[in-house]
Amino acid sequence: MSSCSRVALVTGANKGIGFAITRDLCRKFSGDVVLTARDEARGKAALQQLQAEGLSARFHQLDIDDRHSIRALRDFLLKDYRGLDVLVNNAGTDPTHFHIQSEAAMKTNFFGTRAVCTELLPLIKPQGEPEGAETPVYLALLPPDAEGPHGQFVQEKKVEQW
Ligand SMILES: NC(=O)c1ccc[n+]([C@@H]2O[C@H](COP(=O)([O-])OP(=O)(O)OC[C@H]3O[C@@H](n4cnc5c(N)ncnc54)[C@H](OP(=O)(O)O)[C@@H]3O)[C@@H](O)[C@H]2O)c1
Repeated sequence: MSSCSRVALVTGANKGIGFAITRDLCRKFSGDVVLTARDEARGKAALQQLQAEGLSARFHQLDIDDRHSIRALRDFLLKDYRGLDVLVNNAGTDPTHFHIQSEAAMKTNFFGTRAVCTELLPLIKPQGEPEGAETPVYLALLPPDAEGPHGQFVQEKKVEQW
């Protein structure tokens, strides 16, 4: 790690789609990968799982419902990286039963994600710094029969598969 390193960060990365994206970033992203989780023990267990696979990431606690937690992460990114190159807003609760759990889903999936964007999007480094950083918008889709995360991303007004 150095302040010149590119850095990618995934929220809610201790399991599920977030963990799978983190694993792929560890394999393919040229820079540091930060695995975040609201629960430190679960986050560190996920980190150990990556390490067992020969992959390397850093851990930082992040509860997207907690503004203090988000700001602590922001300060860490500014101190160690002077910004952020890739933000994957994955953390959230299952929206399948939205009619039953609408309050919890709105709190985390909407207001929590909005709070993360408010604090972290200003840190996103401008394109071209240091080596052509891009900030595409990812749309994750995972039907029940999928073998892994895939979906589409929108970049420069074009939709591509991943
Ligand atoms: N799977 C699908 O088909 C599908 C469809 C539509 C949308 N999504 C969305 O895609 C995302 C990932 O889905 P998934 O199936 O991988 O879900 P998952 O297995 O339930 O994982 C959700 C992750 O978000 C974390 N999280 C929940 N609340 C959080 C908070 N307040 N702060 C930080 N982290 C929090 C969870 O942490 P804990 O382990 O501590 O609970 C967990 O790491 C979710 O936002 C989900 O709503 C998924």
